[in-house]
Amino acid sequence: MKPVLISGIQPSGKLHIGNYLGALKNFVDLQNSGKYQCYFFIADLHSLTEDFDPKEKPKQILELMADFLAAGLDSKKSVIFQQSQIPAHTELSWVLNTVTPMGELERMTQFKDKSVRQRKNINIGLFAYPVLMAADILLYDTKFVPVGEDQLQHLEITRSLARKFNKKFGKTFFEPQAILTKTPRVMSLANPEKKMSKSQPESCLFIDDSPQEIRNKIRKAVTDSGAEVKHDEKNKPAISNLLEIHSSLSGETISKLEKKFIGKNYSTFKNDLAGVVIKHFADFRKKKSALIKNQSKLFSILVAGSQKAAKVANKKIAEVRKKIGLI
Ligand code: ADP
Ligand code: TRP
Repeated sequence: MKPVLISGIQPSGKLHIGNYLGALKNFVDLQNSGKYQCYFFIADLHSLTEDFDPKEKPKQILELMADFLAAGLDSKKSVIFQQSQIPAHTELSWVLNTVTPMGELERMTQFKDKSVRQRKNINIGLFAYPVLMAADILLYDTKFVPVGEDQLQHLEITRSLARKFNKKFGKTFFEPQAILTKTPRVMSLANPEKKMSKSQPESCLFIDDSPQEIRNKIRKAVTDSGAEVKHDEKNKPAISNLLEIHSSLSGETISKLEKKFIGKNYSTFKNDLAGVVIKHFADFRKKKSALIKNQSKLFSILVAGSQKAAKVANKKIAEVRKKIGLI
């Protein structure tokens, strides 16, 4: 049997190039490697922990599904599903809450950051977010979880909860490992000290931005002092970030890119980068705009995937109930 690999993304707005290079592109590569039994899902329950408009949510769910498929996820190769269609996720999350020390959740940097960002909505869901994420992962006997660097702390807690549960109730869960990409932390175009994040849309290059938007945003992206196109994270964080984006999309190594731009200025490099980004996503944009027109098809693929995933999840939750004496 192939090892199980799972990851999810929240339907909470457009995907940026950080989501793509840190997560989605890797999902597609890992799926196509044929080495894993892959599950990819829309983490809609997680997305309720931030302010949202219920009228927008169905659109966001189907748009993320279109992103998945246009990027190359394939329901014949992977199980693609919607988290909220499988009640076992919330049920296991509740059970895991009962073995989760408050102190471990209080240390989570994402919780701390989001509590500052949404001071008026510091809800219990935001606090227990990593526990639901642990449930998502542990339900499927997962070995590997491809994510960006910001999720590593949540994976650590997932492993810790698996250990705690196993110790208390007998061996039930595997401890999963993260898979990171070469660009696990793409930085903001406006501030290379901060990660690119949907919460700061002006700092993001979205993967379905038009060629014109891509050119404008890259032209306006902050650069460093000096004029040399060189990878130097400490002294040239902005150019280093742009070089990494270029390298991941063009497939050229950083050192080859540095050579190519010797004696050229930042704006020549930025122009080239814009061309690479526009070309890379041309096919994606075309596929996505075709997919988004057929919403009922997108939904029916999600329903079929959720039915497949539910079979696995329901078996595991039955095992959990038995272990904790709920029958
Ligand atoms: P955001 O942080 O923009 O709200 P999500 O939390 O929905 O994005 O993240 C979806 C996936 O994208 C996760 O695996 C996350 O680790 C990854 N990711 C998010 N931002 C970045 C980034 N700037 N660089 C690399 N990966 C990222
Ligand atoms: N927390 C992840 C994020 O913000 C999304 C997510 C939810 C996830 N459940 C997961 C990722 C399980 C991997 C595995 O990006």
